[in-house]
Order: sequence, then C-alpha cells, then structure tokens
Amino acid sequence: MADTGSRLKELECRACCTSSDAFRVASVCPTCGHALFANYRLEDLDGRDWLRKVTERPATLWRYRELLPVGSDEFVTSLGEGFTPLLPLGDVPGAEGVAVSLKDDGTMPTGSFKARGMAVAVSRAKELGLRDLFVPSAGNAGVALAAYAARASLRARVYLPERTPEPMKQSVRLYGAEVVEVQGTIREAGEKARADEKRRGSFDLSTLREPYRVEGKKTMGFEVFEQSGSHDLPDAIVYPTGGGTGLVGMAKAFAELRALGLMERPPRLYAVQPDGCAPVVRALDEGAPQVTPWGEPRTIAPGLLVPSPFSSERILEAVRSTRGGGVTVTDAAIVSAMRDLAMRHGLSVSPEGAAPYAALPKLVDRKLVSPGERVLLYNTGTGLPFSWEALARSVG
Ligand SMILES: Cc1ncc(COP(=O)(O)O)c(C=O)c1O
Ligand SMILES: [Zn+2]
Repeated sequence: MADTGSRLKELECRACCTSSDAFRVASVCPTCGHALFANYRLEDLDGRDWLRKVTERPATLWRYRELLPVGSDEFVTSLGEGFTPLLPLGDVPGAEGVAVSLKDDGTMPTGSFKARGMAVAVSRAKELGLRDLFVPSAGNAGVALAAYAARASLRARVYLPERTPEPMKQSVRLYGAEVVEVQGTIREAGEKARADEKRRGSFDLSTLREPYRVEGKKTMGFEVFEQSGSHDLPDAIVYPTGGGTGLVGMAKAFAELRALGLMERPPRLYAVQPDGCAPVVRALDEGAPQVTPWGEPRTIAPGLLVPSPFSSERILEAVRSTRGGGVTVTDAAIVSAMRDLAMRHGLSVSPEGAAPYAALPKLVDRKLVSPGERVLLYNTGTGLPFSWEALARSVG
C-alpha cells in the first residue's frame, strides 16, 4: 500500500516544551501530563504547490494528508468525511450588514464534526497497532468512534451520560460498540471510563488525551480556508465550545497555514457556551490562565455540558492567539435559533450548532463583530436526533 506522504515529525507538549516519539502509541505528555500535539516537517514543503495538489484531490479531509498523522493508505479508515457545505445565510436579524455564512458539519458521516477527529484518530490507532478503544462522550463522539471502529474492525466502548439522547445510544449499539451509561455529565463518564478501563489495557480516545483527534478537527480550519479562498477569509468564526478541541484544532490549522506562507492573519475565534455551563467564556472574560470547573452545569445542548475541559490552557491560548473572545447564550435563545435556522434557511441543526447563530446579535451588540465583516457560524451537528418540540417545552 502507498505512503500517504504524511510529514509527521514528532509530538510536542506545549506546557513543558518537551518533544516525544510520534511513531509509538502516545496519550498525554509523559513528563507533565498535559496534551501532546503533532508537529510536521513544514520547512521544505512549498505552500502554494501543496495547496495546488490538495485542490485536485477528492473532496474529503484526507486531501490534507501531508499534514495528517496517518503514514500508510492501508490504515486510512474513511466514510467520505469532510468538505462539508459552506452556505451563505443572507441577512440575519440582529446582525444587519454582516455577511454571515454557515459551515454545515451536520452533513458529516455520523451526523457531526466528531467524525473528523475519530476518522483520523481511529486510523492512526489502527496503524499503531491498537485494537481496543474507549471514549467518554456526550453522544456524538461516541457515535463517531463506534462507526469508525466498526469500519476499522476494532473494538470500542462508549461511556455516555444517562441523559444522552436515546437515538445516539442506539446508534452506538447498532455499530456494534458497547454502551456504558453513567450518572452525571461527561466529567463523571470520563472518571468512570478511566477507572473501569485501567485493567483492560484499552486505549483512551478522550479529547486532547490522545494527540490525533485534534488533527482531524484541524481540517475544519483547512476547509474554511480552502472554501473561502485566501481573499475572502471570514473575519470571525463563531464556534460552540464544549471540550474546546475544535477551537484548538482550528487555531492549529491557521498556525500551520501561516507557517506555509498561505495565511497572514487568522480569523478571530469566538467561543460560544450556554449560560448554564460557560467555564471557557468565564475564563476568557476574566483573563484567567486556565479554566476553573463550573458548578452545577446545566444546558439542553449535550455537547456543551463540559464543566471542566482538559488542557484548558490550550483552549484559551487558541482563542487569544486569534484575538477572539467568548460569549454566552441562553438555552431559550438556542431553541429559538434552531427554529429560525430551520424555517428561514432549511437547516436542521443540533442545539450546539444553533448556539453560534443565537450568539450573533450579542456579538454585534458588543461590537465584537461589525457590519461589513464576514462571519462564519460553525454548525457542528445535525438536529435529527433531537425533538425540537420537547426542547422548546423544556425551556418554556
Ligand atoms: C454537536 C457538538 N457540538 C460541539 C461540541 C463541543 O465540541 P468541542 O469539544 O470541539 O468544544 C460537541 C461535543 O460533544 C458536539 O457534540
Ligand atoms: Zn509536558
């Protein structure tokens, strides 16, 4: 089987600045326990030439393979993920004069952007000889892991909060993965998963606790860049934030594009969180060096119910490195944004994916976004597993 041309070089811990071997199984930094990130040999890669080659390849995220970690085509496990639509939305109430577009990852295999991270992480796990994987998840990551593990013939177990939407639990089981239900949020699911799995020798695919999901999520940034064209890049990207990997991934994509001489100034990244669970936005507002856990987290958006994200320094750094910021929205505004996106634009989006639309008037109000600017709202998942009417009742 052919070489992918991956330029993977090493893993690096940005907390203690040590590097480690990228060609063996790795989880967190062996020295300090923080997240590890993949570095690539970019010095001798001609950016323009690379981009030309990329645009001639099939429309999946594997077109960026030189900057992805999988070394051999044999291990690429694909369901055709990536290159999702970027749709203009026209005039949006509360954001008159702003050119608003929406990137729709609701059309991804398994219904969410989580397929990006899992396609890459499962492929790389298989390449490194792993056979047995697990993940704590709010739903979408578990569904994605189950699907890609099935396609790669690997075993998977998914730890889900009890209150995860039933269609997601059923999907995980349908793909042949095991579901373990846990009381509480993804934090409790993670604690139980790590305790239970310790004896098994299985591999933890929790977000940022292994180095390659973020590489898959990085392709969100590459696609935004490629689909907008370097002259029409959005000024700002508004992103629904839970574990924060999407923000970290996009900031990493922009840093790599900059290193290749393809991007001068990255879009500003704005984290959107529900006002019942907004630890990242709070830390951004306070100028804090890290996120402190959110007490009594509550929201209707399961993927945003992350009271204490791992390696939060990296999330804050991602936002700050682009001169972006954070904003909260109410659950009621999320529900109303779901309705608006469906009725005005024909888009059925998840509560998480509706949060950026809900945040838009507030961003304009606070002058974080101005008329004349281009703003991209990131829809991270499909609305199909959700009952809008039930959500509307729950927020009154
Ligand atoms: C649909 C959806 N949007 C957003 C998120 C949060 O993503 P991130 O970890 O990149 O902050 C999740 C996580 O579960 C999700 O399922
Ligand atoms: Zn370290």
